[in-house]
Amino acid sequence: MEISTPENISNLSKSEKYAILHNFWKGLSDPEVDWIANFGNATSLMKEIFNWWWVGFYRVSGNQLILGPFQGPTACTKILYGKGVCGKTWEFQKTILVPNVHDFEGHIACSSASNSEIVIPIWKNGSIWGVLDVDSEHFDQFDEVDQINLELLCEKLSLLI
Ligand code: SME
Repeated sequence: MEISTPENISNLSKSEKYAILHNFWKGLSDPEVDWIANFGNATSLMKEIFNWWWVGFYRVSGNQLILGPFQGPTACTKILYGKGVCGKTWEFQKTILVPNVHDFEGHIACSSASNSEIVIPIWKNGSIWGVLDVDSEHFDQFDEVDQINLELLCEKLSLLI
């Protein structure tokens, strides 16, 4: 299924882009297939609309996070509990916004081009199942609008696990 986003999408406000994201996701999400298919399409849709440097998922397995579907440069395949922004999101069980990754102690630089980041926990049956990680090559790219909308998307994704 081809996603045809508006040509002038880069001129739209962040909130308008999220409205498009949620709208497309309604048609794209497929409860008949597994989480990998759905999460893969979710990363593609986010990349298409926001053109973020890196967007992808890590899922909990034992005491570490394992790389899941993503769009962008190759990334670390394993992140230990409590390590990096992703591991801290798992530990603290809440979204972490990082305006400047170089100021975040323990940040894991999968790509040296990343300058800001947001990581959202994904819940399943009362525990953290994994995280959504978004990286930008620009500083200070993520705010409350991203947090609210990406947490909402993660709630929808959780229903497909
Ligand atoms: N920066 C993340 C690691 C994952 S990559 O950015 C894709 C972290 O500190 O957990």
